[in-house]
Amino acid sequence: MNPTLKCMTVALAATGLAACAPSSRRAALIEENVAVAVQQIGMLADSSELGGAIRIPSTYKNGAIAYVPTDDWVSGFFAGTLWYMYELTGDEQWALRAQKHTEQLDSIQYLQWHHDVGFMIYDSYGHGLRLKQLPGYDRVIVQTAKSLSTRFREVPGVIQSWDADRGWQGERGWQCPVIIDNMMNLELLFKATELSGDSTFYRIAVRHADRTLAEHFREDCSCYHVVDYDLTTGEVRRRCTAQGYADESAWARGQAWAVYGFTTCYRATGDRKYLDHAERVADFMLHDAAMPEDLVPYWDYDAPNIPEEPRDASSAAVLASALYEMYTYTDKAAYKQDADRILESLSTPAFRAPVGENGGFLLMHSVGSIPHGSSIDVPLNYADYYFLEALLRKERVEADEPLF
Ligand code: GLY
Repeated sequence: MNPTLKCMTVALAATGLAACAPSSRRAALIEENVAVAVQQIGMLADSSELGGAIRIPSTYKNGAIAYVPTDDWVSGFFAGTLWYMYELTGDEQWALRAQKHTEQLDSIQYLQWHHDVGFMIYDSYGHGLRLKQLPGYDRVIVQTAKSLSTRFREVPGVIQSWDADRGWQGERGWQCPVIIDNMMNLELLFKATELSGDSTFYRIAVRHADRTLAEHFREDCSCYHVVDYDLTTGEVRRRCTAQGYADESAWARGQAWAVYGFTTCYRATGDRKYLDHAERVADFMLHDAAMPEDLVPYWDYDAPNIPEEPRDASSAAVLASALYEMYTYTDKAAYKQDADRILESLSTPAFRAPVGENGGFLLMHSVGSIPHGSSIDVPLNYADYYFLEALLRKERVEADEPLF
């Protein structure tokens, strides 16, 4: 029996899959989820590699797995999921698969037409570098940082998220739209400075974070999705939404990106203002009246038909992962308790799919973009990615081990 299967015994028994022996030190919730993930992600990887091609699964709808091209913003998450499977099981077969899926993204290091390359390359090459020190991965990260830096706009002091003359974004009359999601791309810039010694990337990341902190948030610390800047004067032209219910609403995943992104900035810079800010946004998310008891938010805190609105498991997974990191910096037990609560909720049949279903994705019930009519109440590859990340973080926090 291979080592992964061997250590899955009790968990498999708990899920009715098979009988095997328990790992002595792993918490039952993690053990059980890893056992399920070995089956589900294994099935998804097999489908993605059918016929020798390497395809990138993004969601499952109408009974079929949907695949995306390499330049889609979600293209790095499946490679990252495979790296996390390697980390959670220690089984080298996951690392080999992860490497194949990672290197499929090679050309993305030169992509300059949108900002999401941080997600795409950090969650794939970043993990490959961290876990295996694979040759050339450092160069890919630095080149990607150079590509992302071409989108930095000196006058407003931000990285422009989307081109203002392309696709549906081109119909909104924006000049320099910045979305809160962009905070998630900064981790790659910080890493690129560490790898190259070039402080330009670090300075761009800090300027972007500072301007975002100043402009993206309301009094209650909920955030806008989009802030559009004037490229000539640097002033804010408009605050609005693209994927939320309304310009003045709190789109759930955007809030989670803010919590996670500012926590990352604190890790990279040691500047306490970022952590304080992440805490304020987390407190909004966790304690707003629209947050359900199980701590899996509705897709938008101001959606009009709560509690009949779709939930967004992806927001919950991102928030849980960030809360574990915040707990390590603040020692506030409530953050860990809330993160645990989210993982427990996501591990119930209400959110986690039965083995053999859901196309192989772990979680059900995420929302891509309701205003665009896309990916509503479906599995999403980034929900699974952050769910596995949060499980890893939980394990490390409980073992008193460093997260990174
Ligand atoms: N970055 C796009 C999203 O969160 O849907």
